[in-house]
Amino acid sequence: MSDTSCNVLLVVGSLHDASITRVVVKHLADNLSADGCEVNTLDFIEDPLPLFNPDTVWEQDYYLLLKERVAAADVIVLGTPDYHGSISSTLKNFLDHFWKEFTGKLFATIVASHEKGLTVHDQLRTVARQCYAWSMPYGVSFIEKIDVKNDQVASDELRNRLEMLQHDIQVYGRLLANQRASDITGTAPGFLAQLRK
Ligand SMILES: Cc1cc2nc3c(=O)[nH]c(=O)nc-3n(C[C@H](O)[C@H](O)[C@H](O)COP(=O)(O)O)c2cc1C
Repeated sequence: MSDTSCNVLLVVGSLHDASITRVVVKHLADNLSADGCEVNTLDFIEDPLPLFNPDTVWEQDYYLLLKERVAAADVIVLGTPDYHGSISSTLKNFLDHFWKEFTGKLFATIVASHEKGLTVHDQLRTVARQCYAWSMPYGVSFIEKIDVKNDQVASDELRNRLEMLQHDIQVYGRLLANQRASDITGTAPGFLAQLRK
């Protein structure tokens, strides 16, 4: 395994057929994969995720399969449109299914917005903190018809931001994954001690 390879789960938080979030997630997934990362994309338009119900979900086959994919990831890229200055219900529904599986992992956030999506990124950082996950110190936002056109990343600015994000995902994803594994198998009293068997 190279120093910059890692296992990345990417989430498309839009059910919109012509979603620009999906276009940007795919762009990032393709480039991560080309650089040797294990890449897994969740797109709920292809695999619908039932609404989270804590009374019934835990033994369901779809949940157990999804949990394996989340557990295998070092980095989770959360893509969402800006809905009312907040995250989409599609992404929130995914997030509600997991907690410990996110602990000690790295979240990266990408947001389709007309307004830079800052409140959306902030809300995802709050989710990360609640789950003891790390978050990138910045997010990537983009605007329809300017940054994404004809199902392609169309602006140099977005292309450059995604290149930076890809680099940071690989570098910090690997670093944190190595430290997470060592803390879980170790005996020191860090926050990852809660995941020891
Ligand atoms: C219900 C709803 C609420 C929205 N609220 C906002 C908003 O508060 N701020 C904003 O910039 N865009 C808002 N938008 C616009 C979407 O964020 C924008 O169209 C985005 O590009 C959609 O991404 P998608 O193509 O990946 O679904 C809203 C769209 C919808 C459908």
